[in-house]
Amino acid sequence: MLIDTYSRVATDLRVSLTDRCNLRCTYCMPEEGLEWLAKPDLLTDDEIVRLIDIAVTTLGIEGVRFTGGEPLLRPGLAGIVEQVAALDPRPQMSLTTNGIGLKRTAAALKAAGLDRVNVSLDTLRPDVFKTLTRRDRHKDVIEGLYAAREAGLTPVKANSVLMPGLNDDEAPELLAWAVEHDYELRFIEQMPLDAQHGWKRDGMITAGDILTSLRTRFELTEEGSEQRGSAPAERWLVDGGPHNVGVIASVTRPFCAACDRTRLTADGQVRTCLFAREETDLREALRSDASDEEIARIWREAMWGKKAGAGLDDPTFVQPGRPMSAIGG
Ligand code: 5AD
Ligand code: SF4
Repeated sequence: MLIDTYSRVATDLRVSLTDRCNLRCTYCMPEEGLEWLAKPDLLTDDEIVRLIDIAVTTLGIEGVRFTGGEPLLRPGLAGIVEQVAALDPRPQMSLTTNGIGLKRTAAALKAAGLDRVNVSLDTLRPDVFKTLTRRDRHKDVIEGLYAAREAGLTPVKANSVLMPGLNDDEAPELLAWAVEHDYELRFIEQMPLDAQHGWKRDGMITAGDILTSLRTRFELTEEGSEQRGSAPAERWLVDGGPHNVGVIASVTRPFCAACDRTRLTADGQVRTCLFAREETDLREALRSDASDEEIARIWREAMWGKKAGAGLDDPTFVQPGRPMSAIGG
């Protein structure tokens, strides 16, 4: 088991497959100048599968989520999924993507054993998309969302981050679209994880703002707090149901006490939290022929050092050294 000193148990593993991306979302990356991880530092497909194997067979991991950067940019993704699907016990597998490559890959990923996807969808307006992501690819995202559902990677979730002055007026439209097209929409408060360190507490759109905006058009009823558990989204029924909408208040209502995650970066570092300032290296152990038991021991020890919480709303909060694209969302 992966347990920490606050008795939290990690059953959910997030694996970043690459720090690269084909978009440049302003809340994540600068226009240019971000340095990528060097190829020899990246875990190979086999190394990734071995670590996931150790995680599910000896450390109690039940779910694996592939992230990036943009995980669809990893050439070996389908092969990794296929090998993880063959593990015993077989973990639940999901993928967080910007959606651009899904039209091309959704069916193959489903066939390989992927269960679900989360797709970023911050706006329905192609011109706003272009400003927000610095790339003119909105159509590809929408087509990717359709492809995911057609391939059966369901329930397909759509994630939206609202940015002041860009798409902060779009919450009701996004929800109307998601309800109409049968996607599960979740809004995520903007977190201080951008490579440029430009996040400001003052400017951010809060969960409270989002709910106020949604209520101008929809009736929202709380689905019950006991359902929140360790799932960070607080969920609301839309106009009496059956559709719901989630709001992930990472900043204003942190859920650290119920956290069930552990993370692996593309270069083989364990992180106990998105906002951790420490990492624990597994790559060196992997490459010096350490046994599965030794690697499990290092991972357990890292987990034991997990901090109580991130304290994003705390004035003394210091942003982690690496951006989200290198940590994995
Ligand atoms: N704050 C909140 N969400 C973010 N994402 C990327 N960067 C941030 C940030 N700074 C989102 C992406 C994606 C998910 C993995 O996290 O849009 O939907
Ligand atoms: Fe790429 Fe996701 Fe970062 Fe946007 S938020 S630049 S899609 S990694």
